[in-house]
Amino acid sequence: MMRKNFDYNIFLIGFMGAGKSTIASYMSKEYAMDVIEMDQEIVEREKMSIPDIFDQFGEPYFRDLETNLLIEMQARQNVIISCGGGVAMRERNVVEMKKNGRVVLLQATPATILGRVRDSGDRPLLNGHMNEDYIEKLMDERREKYEAAADIQISTDDQSVSEICEEMIRKLRAM
Ligand code: S3P
Repeated sequence: MMRKNFDYNIFLIGFMGAGKSTIASYMSKEYAMDVIEMDQEIVEREKMSIPDIFDQFGEPYFRDLETNLLIEMQARQNVIISCGGGVAMRERNVVEMKKNGRVVLLQATPATILGRVRDSGDRPLLNGHMNEDYIEKLMDERREKYEAAADIQISTDDQSVSEICEEMIRKLRAM
């Protein structure tokens, strides 16, 4: 595969467990991109876990931190950003991402998602709802906004990480 710098940022969006972090970390290694894991960046800056931020300051506060981080990314390029699963729900965020980025939607079925997130306690929105029906319902509610935000879409169910990245790069080049 050809190595090159991207003169824009790549924003990975999609549901919790869609594979955003895995793909971002692979791209940073194979393509020498800088990587920003939004949740992790926010946790480090706030010195609090995501569930604690939701509990103590509320979800809108967390959502504002996300928007501010996206705006900060406009000063950079060749960064692959693993967005929190809720990022594409705010129209403002989509506008900010598109200013210097391409938005890539990673898709997976509810069954695949459940398999990937079931043992994690870090996702307040799934606390007490760790089942396929709930994931499917939340995914259905979000589908329209995810798809509207996306420049390209990739299914992650039956592909390896390297295949997903190759498909993504092929589609980005064709844009
Ligand atoms: C959220 C997804 C999480 C995290 C927070 C809210 C969401 O990120 O930002 O728990 O609204 O879908 P991941 O998609 O990385 O799990």
